[in-house]
Amino acid sequence: MVEQFELGKNWQNLKITDERIEQAQNDIKKWLGNIRGKSFVDVGCGSGIFSLAAHKLGAKVTSFDTQIRAVDCCMKLSKGYWWSERGDILDNAFVRSFGKFDVVYCYGVLQAARQAHSLKFKRFSVIEFGVGKGHGLTTLENAALRISKYFNIQIDIFGFDLGIGLPKPLDYRDLPYYWRKSLFKMNIDNLKKKLNKSNLIIGDISNTIPDFINSNPAPIGFVAFDLDFYSSTKSSLNLFTAKPNLFLPRVICYFDDILSNDIVYHSEFTGVSLAIDEFNQKYSDRKIAKMHGLRYIRMIPSKWNEQIFVFHYFSHPLFSKYIYPEKIYQRG
Ligand SMILES: C[S@@+](CC[C@H](N)C(=O)[O-])C[C@H]1O[C@@H](n2cnc3c(N)ncnc32)[C@H](O)[C@@H]1O
Repeated sequence: MVEQFELGKNWQNLKITDERIEQAQNDIKKWLGNIRGKSFVDVGCGSGIFSLAAHKLGAKVTSFDTQIRAVDCCMKLSKGYWWSERGDILDNAFVRSFGKFDVVYCYGVLQAARQAHSLKFKRFSVIEFGVGKGHGLTTLENAALRISKYFNIQIDIFGFDLGIGLPKPLDYRDLPYYWRKSLFKMNIDNLKKKLNKSNLIIGDISNTIPDFINSNPAPIGFVAFDLDFYSSTKSSLNLFTAKPNLFLPRVICYFDDILSNDIVYHSEFTGVSLAIDEFNQKYSDRKIAKMHGLRYIRMIPSKWNEQIFVFHYFSHPLFSKYIYPEKIYQRG
C-alpha cells in the first residue's frame, strides 16, 4: 500500500444526520438512477455516508478505504448489513480478490449474449452447477437481468444443487483430503426469497440433468461449474451429450475448481480437470477447451481468466456460421 497521510480522524467527527443521509440518497439517485438490487462498491468510503445511503436505497454495498479509521466509521454505520474493509484501489491484488463471482459471471453472460444476438436468437439459458449458499446464483441473476435489457434478449437462469451441501466424496478423485460432506449447505427458503427469476433445481445432478434436457430449455450459452468433485462434475458434463438445439454453438464455461491453493493441488489426474479430460477423450465432434490468451485481452488480468473454457460443439449446424458481419476484425 502506498504511504498516505492519516485522514481518517475527520470522519470520526462527522455527524451523520438524517438530513445528510437524505442528501446523499438524492445525489446517488441523480447520478446513478435506481440502484435497488444492484452491487454498489464505495471506493474510499470515508465516513460511510454514501454506503449507508446506497444501502437504504436497496443496493448490495461493499466499501473500502485506505484509512483504518474510515473503515471503522463505515463498519459502525453498517451494523453488519454490508462489509467494509481496508484496501487500496491502486493495489491490483486487492482489486482482483474483490467480488469473486461478479466479473466472471458478467463476462460469461455477456459473451453468450453477444453470440446469441449475432446468431439472431431471441432467448438463451445460463446455468450454475453448484449453488451452495447462493452467492453465485444471485450474481448470475443480476448479470442476466442487466445484460438481457442491453441486448433486448430473454435470458433464462437455472441453478442446480443438492440442497444439503456436498455429498460424500466417492474416492480419491473427489479429493476428500480437501472437501468434506455437508459443506456449503443451502438454506433453500432464504435463497428462494432472494431470487427473482432464477429456477432452482434441487436434487443430485445425475437425476436432474436428464429431466432438464427433456424440458427443452432455450439454448444454453454460459455454464458455471462449481460442484467441487470429480464425480459430480463428470455427471454434470452429461449435459453436453445432448443434441445441438440445446446449445449455442460455443458455450462459455467457468470452472471454479481447477486452480490450486496451498492446500489443494489440482491436476489432470483428479478433480474437475480429470472430468474434462475424460469427456474430451470420449467425443470427437465436441470438446471442452481452455480459452487461451484471455488474460492478454483483459484490462486487469486476473485469476479467473485461467478458469474460462469453451464447449465447442463442432457438429452444431451453426458452428461454422460467420458471425459479427457488421464489423471487420481481420485486416490486411
Ligand atoms: C462450493 S458449493 C457452490 C458454491 C456456489 N457456487 C456459491 O456461489 O457460493 C458446491 C455445491 O455443489 C453441490 N453439489 C456437489 N455435488 C453435487 C451433485 N452431485 N448434485 C447436485 N449438487 C451437487 C453441493 O450441494 C454444494 O452446495
